[in-house]
Amino acid sequence: MKKVTAIYPGSFDPPTNGHLDLIARGSKIFDELIVAILCNAEKLPLFSVAERRLMLDNLTAHFKNVQVDTFDGLTVDYALRANASAILRGIRAISDYEYELQMALMNRKLHPELETVFMMPAEQYSYISSRLVREVAQLGGSIKDLVPEMVEQRVREKLDPAIKLKDVRKPKAGKR
Ligand code: PNS
Repeated sequence: MKKVTAIYPGSFDPPTNGHLDLIARGSKIFDELIVAILCNAEKLPLFSVAERRLMLDNLTAHFKNVQVDTFDGLTVDYALRANASAILRGIRAISDYEYELQMALMNRKLHPELETVFMMPAEQYSYISSRLVREVAQLGGSIKDLVPEMVEQRVREKLDPAIKLKDVRKPKAGKR
């Protein structure tokens, strides 16, 4: 039987619990799922593409059929290069619908053979976006429960490099 590969494109700056929820759902219905990080989406990203890739590689390591990659240019061109037949996107609320519909129809115009598949993340993630996570963190709010613990730590280090330095200098238990 033909294997179905899908790409899950996005900025993932940073990856959130909503993204991870969608990856888990996508990995169940597609044979292969490629989480595809768009390079150069934002002029001033919080994390470099390499940092985002490293985080997503770690966070998805337990999914046997999920890979992480980066791409430039049109999503549809990347999908064809990756031999994918579907683009996975998440819809959290009605407010996402208009933009997502526009993108899906534009992508269909560019490459009619590619299908966009929408999935809904669990409702407890329906208000989470990378943009709000960055904003809350930058203004000193807690992003616990919004992102995986490892991302929370990376965001903290990014916003306050002194934290990383403190951790490196902390004497290990038993060592003085
Ligand atoms: O995480 P985001 O910002 O919601 O992801 C948006 C993304 C990367 C899927 C979209 O901006 C995109 O596909 N960009 C690549 C350029 C492209 O193909 N543009 C035409 C889309 S209709």
